Formats: sequence, structure tokens, C-alpha cells
Amino acid sequence: MPDVDPHVIVLFGATGDLARRKLWPGLLHLAEAGLLPDDFRIIGSGRHAPEGGLAQDWPDALRERVTFVVSSADDGSALADAVQAARSALGDASRTLFYMSVPPSAMEPMVQMLGDAGLANGRVRIVVEKPFGRDLATAQALNATLHEHFDEDQVFRIDHFLGKEAAQDILALRFANGLFEPVWDRHHIAGVQIDIPETLGLEGRASFYEETGAFRDMVVTHLSQILGFVAMEAPASLDAQHLRDAKAAAFADLRPLTPQDTVYGQFAGYRDQEGVDPESATETFVALRAFVDNDRWRDVPFLLRTGKALAEGRRVVTVTFREPEADIFDGEHRPNEIVFELTEDPKLAVEVRVKEPGPTSAVRRAALTLDVERALNEHGLEAYERLLHDVLLGDHLLFTRADEVERLWECAAQLLEHPPEPLAYDQGSWGPDAAITLAEPIGWRLPERES
Ligand code: BG6
Repeated sequence: MPDVDPHVIVLFGATGDLARRKLWPGLLHLAEAGLLPDDFRIIGSGRHAPEGGLAQDWPDALRERVTFVVSSADDGSALADAVQAARSALGDASRTLFYMSVPPSAMEPMVQMLGDAGLANGRVRIVVEKPFGRDLATAQALNATLHEHFDEDQVFRIDHFLGKEAAQDILALRFANGLFEPVWDRHHIAGVQIDIPETLGLEGRASFYEETGAFRDMVVTHLSQILGFVAMEAPASLDAQHLRDAKAAAFADLRPLTPQDTVYGQFAGYRDQEGVDPESATETFVALRAFVDNDRWRDVPFLLRTGKALAEGRRVVTVTFREPEADIFDGEHRPNEIVFELTEDPKLAVEVRVKEPGPTSAVRRAALTLDVERALNEHGLEAYERLLHDVLLGDHLLFTRADEVERLWECAAQLLEHPPEPLAYDQGSWGPDAAITLAEPIGWRLPERES
């Protein structure tokens, strides 16, 4: 690993759900793997001190570098003192990293507070959690506030799906091989689906979810970013500017989303959950059809689906190919598919038709499967770990840029203004029936197509 400057890491939302599940374990794992700087301090911050301290399960030698300081949008003075003290302890070459794991409505005031408290000066970087704003206007306002205090190269808008090994495998498959890219277009591909059903419900996040909903939580963020990786042209190189230029160009060609091509759902019982408005119209499910209006993709449907309390928890990207024109074989009529499983342990399958063994000429579907970690005998980093590490190195490759995020909100404007009424669906189902018909004629791959 290249030499990393000593870091003061300030974690806002230090006692929140994301910090507990991903950020603290991620930091510990990086420390244990020798991927944190030799010298660092972590200052957890939030409005209320945690009961029983932070990083309780960390080894003593690491935990003694962790402190907690109360801060709020109105008062960053104690935090400023603590950051100053930590910087002095680490010396002039140190950097400060602010990780903003705060709800969307708190983001702008907190960024403003950093500026007012003088914390944005010096060798500073800031990580901003998604969703980035609520719509185009609020995203622009947040970008403007960020840019008042930080240069764009200090800002890291995180979308942890891009940190998943398997998401980067989409790029590797496309651009490191001669086999796939020549057929990666509308002449050969009939449709793409990005399907992220979750069995999870609200998991105690009712207030976040009520203000966010499935579209803002997942679609304009994770699913759209994956769409960017699938749809983009080959970047000139794998540096952050080239990659993000290429992704932004794909988003520029994204056709604005429409209520007609979108199904919203809400799982039965959602309104009875603690913290949820009994008349809530928040969608817990979205399925939609998107199009990228350029020569590569014209008229190819990109089907996106995600939701809570569904039948299975999966993250599947499926690229469905057109069938050969001459159909000379008997047997199964299934198109070829490339299937990416965006699990931490990435898996890839290419589904083909092969001759059924025996005295027949019929064909049947079978899969060429690849378990990447097993094949290469290596383990990757968890998405947040990878991205935290990238921030320490100052690498923007897997972070989203202001223009990309604003363009995605722009494409969402019509839908946000006229959202479809959420249709009720049973917990443990695949969402409203209307979402099934939306995907015709290709149809959702999940539940797994029978072979
Ligand atoms: C988060 C969303 O960004 O992503 C959650 O806020 C969702 O609602 C989660 O459950 C899914 O991430 P992963 O990595 O577990 O698939």
C-alpha cells in the first residue's frame, strides 16, 4: 500500500445504524489488515454520547485512539477543539477526513457547520453518504454548500454499491476481455435487468425510510450507478476523471423516467410499523423500465427492481442476449444470459444452450459459472472497507461526481413530481403484479428461471 499520511477520521453519525453495521467493523478490519495509516485518531461524533463508549469490541491498542465528541449543526466548537488537538498530536503532515453518515435533511447544515467552525480548512477530505439530496434542487443546493467550503477533489460522494467487488467485475468483464464488448449493444442484447430484492424490512430505520423511500434509497443511487457501469462507453483509462466522464455521458443519454414506466409498491403492514405514518404513501418497492437513448442502447429496456420485505434477498444483474435468427434446434428456447451476482463473494454465470447428452439433437440451458474468489484464491474487501481505503488514498474512481448525481435527479424529476400510487403487496412476495407485467416480454429472471 502506498504511504498514507496520518489521519484524523471524524465520523458523524458514529452511533447510527450504518456506523454500527459497516463503518466501525470496516475501520477495524482495515486496521487489522494494515490498511489504515500507521498513525491515526478516530473521533466519533453525534448529538448524544453513546451509552458505554465506542469501539467496545476493539483491541485496547486501537480503541485508545478512539474518542467521542458531541456536536450538532448549531455547535461544532467542542469538535473543532478535539480535531485541533488530534491534528497537533499527529503533526503537520496529517490529513482530516470527515465521514458524514447523517440523514439527508441534516447533511447541508452539518457541512455548513464544518465551514463555520473552521474545520474545512487545511488538508481535509469529506465523505458524503447517500442519498445525495431529495431531488435536483436539494442536490444542487448541497453541492453548492459543499463547494463553498471544499474543492470538488476534496469531496467523496459515496455509493457503496460501486465498492462491491462484483460491481467492478462488470467493468473488468467488459473492458479487460475481447469476448464480450463486441456484443455489448442493442444489436445483440435484448434487455438488462438490475434486480435487488431484499427480505429485510425497516430494521428500526422508520424515520429515515419515511423521509427517503425505496426510490431515493436505492434506485436513484445504487441501481442507477450499476446501470452506469453496464451502459457506459469504454473509458479512455481507469483514472477517476475518465471513468466518471464515461459514466456521466451514459447518464446524459438516460431518458427521463416516467410514472407510466414505473410501479411503486408498499408492503402490507408497513403503515403499522413503529415510526411510520398510518397514512404513509412511502414506497417500499420500485420496479421501472429505463432507456438509454444512444446508438449503443436505443430501445433496449433496462429493468430495475428493488424493495423491502420481498421473497428473496439478492443483487442480480442480468444481461439477456438476442436469440440466433435461425432456430435449428429442438429443445429449450432460452436466450443467453450473463448473470452477475453482486455478493461480497462475486459470482458470474454465462448461460448458454448445449446439446442434451444422448441420442437427440435437442438443446438445453446450462451455465458456465465462475466463483471469482475461489478461482483466484483471494478475498476482497467489503464494499465500505474498499471505499474508506480509497478515500485515505484520495482516489475518486469509485465515487460519484456532482454532475452525475444532479443528472440522475434531473431524470427523476417527472417521477418525483407525479409518483405512482404505491400498490399493496404481501410481505414475502415479489411485489405487486403490475411489476411482473412491466418486465414483459423478457420477464424477471428472479425467481430463478426454471431450467
Ligand atoms: C443501503 C440502503 O444503502 O443499502 C439500505 O439504505 C439497503 O436500505 C442497503 O438495505 C443494501 O446494501 P447491501 O450492501 O446490503 O446490499
